[in-house]
Amino acid sequence: MNVLPPVILAKPQAAVPPAASVAERLAAFMRPGSLTLAALPPLSLYVHVPWCLKKCPYCDFNSHAIRGTLDDLPQRRYVDALIADLEAALPFVWGRRVHTIFIGGGTPSLFAPAEIERLLAAIRARLPLEPGCEITLEANPGTFERERFHAFRAAGVTRLSIGVQSFDDARLGALGRVHDATQARAAITEARDAFETFNIDLMYALPGQTLAECEADLGAALAFEPPHLSVYQLTIEPNTLFAKYPPKLPEDDLASTMLDRIAEMTASAGLDRYEVSAYARDGHRAHHNLNYWEFGDYLGIGAGAHGKLSFPHRVVRQVRLRDPAAYMAGAEAGAALASESEVARAELPLEFMLNALRLRAGFEIARFSERTGLPLSAVARPLDEAERRGLIVRDLHHLRPSERGFDFLNDLLELFLPAPPT
Ligand SMILES: C[S@@+](CC[C@H](N)C(=O)[O-])C[C@H]1O[C@@H](n2cnc3c(N)ncnc32)[C@H](O)[C@@H]1O
Ligand code: SF4
Repeated sequence: MNVLPPVILAKPQAAVPPAASVAERLAAFMRPGSLTLAALPPLSLYVHVPWCLKKCPYCDFNSHAIRGTLDDLPQRRYVDALIADLEAALPFVWGRRVHTIFIGGGTPSLFAPAEIERLLAAIRARLPLEPGCEITLEANPGTFERERFHAFRAAGVTRLSIGVQSFDDARLGALGRVHDATQARAAITEARDAFETFNIDLMYALPGQTLAECEADLGAALAFEPPHLSVYQLTIEPNTLFAKYPPKLPEDDLASTMLDRIAEMTASAGLDRYEVSAYARDGHRAHHNLNYWEFGDYLGIGAGAHGKLSFPHRVVRQVRLRDPAAYMAGAEAGAALASESEVARAELPLEFMLNALRLRAGFEIARFSERTGLPLSAVARPLDEAERRGLIVRDLHHLRPSERGFDFLNDLLELFLPAPPT
């Protein structure tokens, strides 16, 4: 999955609508600056597909319920727009290899395998892919999608991420899901048959959920011996139906007991909790998400997609137009961007830590300077404080959150908040 549930929110950057030409923008990004990135990080590609059969009441992703029937989905036009968007972005990633691709949504499994194949062929024709490049596709476990899993594999997808959420029909109903537990089980069986590696997304602390039910959900997922499991606590996001009509959620204490049980059960099943919400068997970590957490680069194409691109003296964030129709028209006219902004020097430490400290193994200390272009002295004070409070463990080369830091990540991350302007 491609979700990074917010731990604490970074202050929004000033967004600049990109009115300048490609040459002017490139020249601006390449000019000297106060940061020095010794090497560019690995590059991933994120592709957003913004449609679903129905909008779930808890979801704040850029996803829109299909109007009419599936036949009304403008698949061909959208893939053409993605290709045009990619084409326009090429000068900003020139000469770089793509390490991973993630086709997320929304529900990309609604697209025909032939369209996914056309998209992947177009990407391959324009960007060199690393050998063995991980290519993930997000799928919903409906019957209609399940029947296409083998065709997605044949189209070049190497990894499937299935949004199961729960195996309890009552909970699935309360979440407004369009599938039931039987369909979820059938989808996982099919995915296991079609793909060498796959992920199951689950959510916990669901409205009305008991500890026993949470354990039953976990047990049902683990019975399939998934190579990768992502387990998210349900959060009530602003501007969702659940924010307007909040369901009664389990108390914090119960949610925290659920997380303890999830950690125990996954560990007993041989899954390593390598990130706050991600559990994997050896050799099955999500390389795409790892690149986010290691503060790597990603080009984001598609409606509302976010991207992060590094240059020798700056880090740039991009956002594509959010509305699918506006995005398609924009991409066709060579103007798919909604905003583009340089990450402020003062924001970079928090941006880096927001990602890197989610990893249980932490990071090589040299990576901080390599990825942010800042000297380590920029975080000396918060790191000393974190160590004093027992929130991190470090030696000369390596730094990781302590058990306590991992459990109280917000307390740890707060130390890296930029000082308020005076
Ligand atoms: C883009 S969505 C999923 C793909 C697919 N459309 C689906 O729903 O099955 C990625 C994952 O984020 C998680 N997610 C979405 N909204 C969430 C929320 N409000 N709280 C916690 N997890 C959430 C779900 O587990 C979901 O599978
Ligand atoms: S199917 Fe997935 S992306 Fe679509 S609305 Fe539901 S949670 Fe969001």
